[in-house]
Amino acid sequence: KIIILDFGSQTTQLIGRRIRELNVYCEIVPYNKFPQGDDSVKGVILSGSPFSVYDESAFKVDLSQLRGKYPIMGICYGAQFIAYTNGGKVEPAGTREYGRAHLSTFDKSNVLFKDVRENTQVWMSHGDTITAIPDNFRVIASTDKVKIAAYQAEGEKMWGVQFHPEVFHSEDGTQMLKNFVVDVCGCSQSWSAASFVDTTVAELKAQVGDDRVILGLSGGVDSSVAAVLLHRAIGKNLTCIFVDHGLLRKNEFKNVMHDYECLGLNVIGVDASEKFFKDLEGVTDPEQKRKIIGRDFVEVFNAEAHKITDAKWLAQGTIYPDRIESLNITGKTIKSHHNVGGLPKEMNLQLCEPLKWLFKDEVRRVGRQLGIPDHLINRHPFPGPGLAVRILGDITREKVRILQDADDIFIQGLRDWKVKDADGKETALYDQVWQAGVILLPVQSVGVMGDERTYERAVALRAVTSTDAMTADWAHLPYEFLAKVSNDIINKVKGVNRVTYDISSKPPSTIEWE
Ligand code: XMP
Repeated sequence: KIIILDFGSQTTQLIGRRIRELNVYCEIVPYNKFPQGDDSVKGVILSGSPFSVYDESAFKVDLSQLRGKYPIMGICYGAQFIAYTNGGKVEPAGTREYGRAHLSTFDKSNVLFKDVRENTQVWMSHGDTITAIPDNFRVIASTDKVKIAAYQAEGEKMWGVQFHPEVFHSEDGTQMLKNFVVDVCGCSQSWSAASFVDTTVAELKAQVGDDRVILGLSGGVDSSVAAVLLHRAIGKNLTCIFVDHGLLRKNEFKNVMHDYECLGLNVIGVDASEKFFKDLEGVTDPEQKRKIIGRDFVEVFNAEAHKITDAKWLAQGTIYPDRIESLNITGKTIKSHHNVGGLPKEMNLQLCEPLKWLFKDEVRRVGRQLGIPDHLINRHPFPGPGLAVRILGDITREKVRILQDADDIFIQGLRDWKVKDADGKETALYDQVWQAGVILLPVQSVGVMGDERTYERAVALRAVTSTDAMTADWAHLPYEFLAKVSNDIINKVKGVNRVTYDISSKPPSTIEWE
């Protein structure tokens, strides 16, 4: 495997994803947590960082522990760090170098550039630049503006690149990463969904044996895939719990319970909506709402888990991006996200997280491999606190009913509206957007229906495109589609007389309104 040392760059996860896409296994670890003594490590990548090498608080590693033992590749800050600590010079670039550039000259015979096209486009994003490299290093690529765009240490398997091969706009970036991980490090490209399922089922059998396992289902992709994987390994010894907080989409609880039954899972459905509505009564502050829901959820889940007295394990659908120890540099909380939280301590359950090394697209691949139907696998993400973060202001059953009806029309509409993609293939709008939903606004406005004046609520439609929810753009849905949805909602949903479309991107907005 490849180890990626994370120095806090926004694109560290992308390095991991690119390498996994090459079917090579890799792990991202904080810069100071290199797994010493792990024989399966075949190479190391140093990520970028928001710091400058000469910042006092800059993250540093002891390169002598790695050098000569493993092939090394430094990206951006990683490259600057290697150069700087070996006697090179790193200085602030006159202007920040950001955006596309081309490798106007590069050493075609260097293994890093095997099968890389002439003048290939690369993506730059750096404030500092390497102005001199150590004596025994050699420049192997330049752009018009950046003389030292890539280097290699003479006679050593150590490279540095100033640009970001992991981002989409570096055209041959994946090829360069492949040259490093496959040709230099000798990793095999054998990481696949089928092999993952086989090895994980075997590992789970060995790990939990004949013990009983409890798992919290949410209706989402991750927990569903985790459940089916465990079910394949231990069958009846898996008990799932699905809590309905009353803030799910219309008919969601019933439909998802049905899906789970078809998959052969043993699921206990708990209708706890009474408790949630009571505890949320009159609460308008977004963070307060999130906290109450998080707390209630743990309470209800734990009470149910307690009834399963012979349980030894708690399984969760935690995936890799949930876990990567993010080097939180600003320390600010934007929203307190909630997932199934808090182990009931006195139950002494051990934690089992079979998807903890997977990225989202890999979870989907594994799900398909396990035969989970497409409509479950391709579902949009849905926030843990549910419709509560889409009702601005306090929450009542009536407001949830209005929102559920409007949301159902929008989502069904997206599923039914087919468009032709570039290859002439028909796809539903639903599959072209990352996520969609309706928001109930705390606003009433005047309208006219028949001869009657109305004074009713406004809703906002939200649909975004994204690859990881970190950034998102509003989806450019066809006007004809928006017109139809608006019409349907106003005609069919009692209590709504105005529909708006949210055209904000993230950042500076977020996907959810609360
Ligand atoms: P924001 O609103 O922060 O949302 O742009 C980013 C993504 O996270 C989802 N989201 C949540 N998911 N628990 C979750 O599991 C939560 O508390 C939560 N809040 C937001 C949101 O739907 C979007 O996909």
